[in-house]
Amino acid sequence: MKNLIDITDFGVDELFSLIDTANDIIANPKKYAEACKGKKLATLFFEPSTRTRLSFEAAMLELGGSVLGFSEASSSSAAKGESIADTAKVVSCYADIIAMRSPIEGAALVAANNATVPVINAGDGGHCHPTQTLADLLTIYREKGTLDNITAGFCGDLKYGRTVHSLLGALARYKNVSAVLISPAELRLPDYVKQDLPNGMRLMEATELETAIPELDVLYMTRIQRERFEDKAEYERLKDSYILTADKLKNAKADMCILHPLPRVNEISVKVDGDGRACYFKQALYGKYMRMALILKLLKEAESDCSRENRFGENVIFGEHKCKNPRCATAVEQELEQAVKLCDNGVLRCCYCDKEI
Ligand code: CP
Repeated sequence: MKNLIDITDFGVDELFSLIDTANDIIANPKKYAEACKGKKLATLFFEPSTRTRLSFEAAMLELGGSVLGFSEASSSSAAKGESIADTAKVVSCYADIIAMRSPIEGAALVAANNATVPVINAGDGGHCHPTQTLADLLTIYREKGTLDNITAGFCGDLKYGRTVHSLLGALARYKNVSAVLISPAELRLPDYVKQDLPNGMRLMEATELETAIPELDVLYMTRIQRERFEDKAEYERLKDSYILTADKLKNAKADMCILHPLPRVNEISVKVDGDGRACYFKQALYGKYMRMALILKLLKEAESDCSRENRFGENVIFGEHKCKNPRCATAVEQELEQAVKLCDNGVLRCCYCDKEI
């Protein structure tokens, strides 16, 4: 059964097909108004959300389906100690498709390995957020007319910013894409994300937004992720590292596209919202259309393939190595067998959170 846990679960053709469907939904919404009649989406949100949860719910309602779920862990039986695996098995009895957000890295993979319906990762801790990437890709495509030949700047918290990890993984598969990674040294892109990018992708690191901005076709601003910091004093020190102002945009290309997964704290001045290059509210809207396209795809594929294969690929070693990431599903989920994969560069990585062993 097809799930969406990591953006690389979908090939480039599948991503283009989702973009096509989303564009068709935008042009012909009535055609899709009953496409999911009788189907139910469960939104299992163990962590706060505005856009992802509500856009998933709006997406299913606009497809003629229904929604059920919860918006915080405290109103679910997770508060009584229920595991992710049991939650996924139980919710599969009530819904046709699940969207799950959790602070636990690898939670959606655990759910997918136990559910009998498709599972969508709506964000797992600081790991990845593939449906935000779908919104990002549609926005870039509609603004630029292509996903090739782009220089994209990623600015802010590249360490914990799961949306950056997923978008880089997606853009890496298009032609002639370069990425400029703009962050303080403490919030650099993790090595495990870099290692997954193809050698051919140009990566440049910078600490100053002002010097990088003139080259960019896309600027992807991000929030410093307060909730992921163990040391709150470090958060206070880094929180205002980058603030995009109208003044800084003077040296940017006239057609540069400014993205932000939102929520924004203060990293983009409100005065920038009126600039024609500011696309972040459109991006939130496009997220709904891509989630509609995704729900349609996964429900259709589930009709013809309801097999429940374990999602681990090849070269996986079970039970021998222990993941040391305290935020990983293997640290909290009852009796979850350790699983590590041997990567091409000889490094062993946890199958759930991707951290090096
Ligand atoms: N972009 C995003 O994931 O927003 P929410 O946290 O509000 O869902």
